[in-house]
Amino acid sequence: MTATICGTGSYIPSYTMDNHDIARLVETSDEWIRERTGVIRRHIVRDETTVSMAAEAARRALADAGAALEEIDLILVSTISSNVVLPCAACEVQKELGAVNATCFDLSAACTGFVLAYNTALAYLASGVCRTALIIGSESLSNLTNWKDRGTCILFGDGAGAAVLRADAAEEDRLRKHYLPVTHSDGGKGAALTCKSRHDFSGLNGGGKEISPEDILDDAHYMQMDGQAVFKFAVKRVPEVIGEVLELNQVKTDEISYYILHQANKRIVEAVAKRLGEPMEKFPMNLQEYGNTSSASIPILLDEMNRDGRLKPGQKLVMAGFGAGLTWGAAIIEWR
Ligand code: COA
Repeated sequence: MTATICGTGSYIPSYTMDNHDIARLVETSDEWIRERTGVIRRHIVRDETTVSMAAEAARRALADAGAALEEIDLILVSTISSNVVLPCAACEVQKELGAVNATCFDLSAACTGFVLAYNTALAYLASGVCRTALIIGSESLSNLTNWKDRGTCILFGDGAGAAVLRADAAEEDRLRKHYLPVTHSDGGKGAALTCKSRHDFSGLNGGGKEISPEDILDDAHYMQMDGQAVFKFAVKRVPEVIGEVLELNQVKTDEISYYILHQANKRIVEAVAKRLGEPMEKFPMNLQEYGNTSSASIPILLDEMNRDGRLKPGQKLVMAGFGAGLTWGAAIIEWR
């Protein structure tokens, strides 16, 4: 059994902060940020939440797929920045949409999250447990950003992207190849990119200390990153895992139309292209407009390419995500 992406959608908050706005908060410059990251501006939530963006991206994906709400039997939301702890964001999305037949749960794997949500949905569809899945990456990273830390606040943005996956009918199934994904994790190197839960009181009351709001929202409750370590990890592991997924599925680089990478940094995308020996035209980017939106970046890019006609039936695409955990992975998609 195989499955096909048959619709995409995204939601981007309208409020923007450009690099000049950031330079008013921390010691940096538009020139420095553009040169080191490629980011020019990022969109930031105002009235939106992770759940509301997820639901809007989902509505657009369902419309693009021509899918009925009753058809959806699985909703997965990949997020590290949900505005709700309970119920999970996927259940909140189900409620907003009225997709009453869906089983819903969240997945937390940072910037590899959308690739893992895709793989999880594929496994559910391939096993026959479900027939139509809605997978969403939605992030309000601005809530986890320390706006006093120039090493991180220049990078991130908010947004959501979604895709509808349908199990192929028996006759399509015989024609279509089933591509296996490749994913990896290295928890031992997790210290490179961390963010303590706002609900983590460990270490505070352990010493018999009173808990105060100042303690709870110290710097560790925002994203903290060893930028160079993450950069080195990405430029080594992403080309490696793309090589692995191509070899596993006996696909050659010249068969791939586009590599849809997590949009973290222009220099990372360029380094991956160089290591694979592939031209930059095969590596679409939109990070200049949105910054790094973690698990939303791949589905937002996929949706833009779907809507502007860059994606054509039969094309083979590689999706590759990487980030906190550390986690990384790649999957091959054949466009519908
Ligand atoms: N503006 C101006 N100067 C800055 C700066 C900023 N925003 N941030 C750091 N600097 C300074 C540093 O203090 C340092 O100064 P020094 O040489 O006087 O000590 C200098 O710039 C170089 O710092 P460095 O950390 O080596 O910069 P870099 O080239 O590694 O770029 C990142 C920093 C964060 C842009 C880069 O490491 C990166 O993108 N890493 C990957 C991060 C990522 O993608 N994370 C998410 C993965 S999912």
